[in-house]
Amino acid sequence: MPGAIYAEGLVKTFGDVKALDGVDLDVPEGTVLGLLGPNGAGKTTTVRCLTTLLRPDRGKAFVAGIDVLKHPNEVRRSIGLSGQFAAVDEYLTGRENLHMVGQLYQMRSKLAKARAVELLEQFHLTEAADRPAKTYSGGMRRRLDLAAALVVSPPVMFMDEPTTGLDPRNRQQLWEVIKQLVSGGTTLLLTTQYLEEADHLAHDICVVDHGRVIARGTSDELKARTGGERVEVVVHDREHIATASEVLRGFGKGETTVEEHTRMLTVPVSGGAKLLAEVIRELDTRGIEIDDIGLRRPTLDDVFLSLTGHLAEQRDEENGTAADAKGHQKKKEEEAK
Ligand SMILES: Nc1ncnc2c1ncn2[C@@H]1O[C@H](COP(=O)(O)OP(=O)(O)OP(=O)(O)O)[C@@H](O)[C@H]1O
Ligand SMILES: [Mg+2]
Repeated sequence: MPGAIYAEGLVKTFGDVKALDGVDLDVPEGTVLGLLGPNGAGKTTTVRCLTTLLRPDRGKAFVAGIDVLKHPNEVRRSIGLSGQFAAVDEYLTGRENLHMVGQLYQMRSKLAKARAVELLEQFHLTEAADRPAKTYSGGMRRRLDLAAALVVSPPVMFMDEPTTGLDPRNRQQLWEVIKQLVSGGTTLLLTTQYLEEADHLAHDICVVDHGRVIARGTSDELKARTGGERVEVVVHDREHIATASEVLRGFGKGETTVEEHTRMLTVPVSGGAKLLAEVIRELDTRGIEIDDIGLRRPTLDDVFLSLTGHLAEQRDEENGTAADAKGHQKKKEEEAK
């Protein structure tokens, strides 16, 4: 039984750019899939194929059990979409934008108005509710676009980089909204460039690069493959490097690396903040003065580095994928229109 979002072998080519090169996905009902990848990886193209905005050259896709290629209209009725580029009507106010979406979904006017009030409140737009959206800041537009996607509560939601451009507070708040949504049974596919975000929200993560899923698993599984957490220490005196290294060896679950010139020692660990506190105490007991210490968690870059042996950007440059860059620019221009 395929999940609420299912794709098999999706291929999409734009000129000589292979945006999707055989993407497979299976998202069980009521769960969140995080699609993680750098610029140009194929995240938006995947979302557009699954939400009927783009027809794949090859492959199959089912959303809420409905064949996306055969019954696009039915699929549209079962999904909510918040795009990477906010799709709000500039000349309508925030309130009117939300009201209009309700009417598109054939909600009764009174109900649509009440829902708009609720969402404006939830997304902290009440004060700006009666101003045209063209006067909104980037973050406000983004929030309005997300609110619009939530006017009706469809069983399957797609959010393309929902928190890009939001400040930390708004990002946290959106995470809460998303968690609530999912606890109500919604299936969600979200794309992001932040491992941390996928970490907070997603049950499963697919890492995409060059139109292909290069790794999948839970956030813990991916981090484990990446080498997990590390403690980094910068000692004050060069003479203390050897003793510090000995201390770290006692806590680490792998080899300690030492960078002599920066006096920085790094060791893979598991145990988070509690372990960090223990390391600090032990270094103190031994009389080792430190300039800096921290727990470093793997980032998207680390995941990429460990999966491909390259950083995301480096890889693009090395392969000389100028066509990609051009295609990307062209697309951005199109969407900006
Ligand atoms: N309409 C289009 N015309 C030409 N090329 C396109 C088009 N849409 C996407 N592409 C190309 O397909 C590739 C994948 O693009 P996509 O937008 O799916 O990436 P993304 O993972 O969403 O990136 P970002 O993080 O920048 O949003 C890129 O190389 C892009 O240039
Ligand atoms: Mg995108």
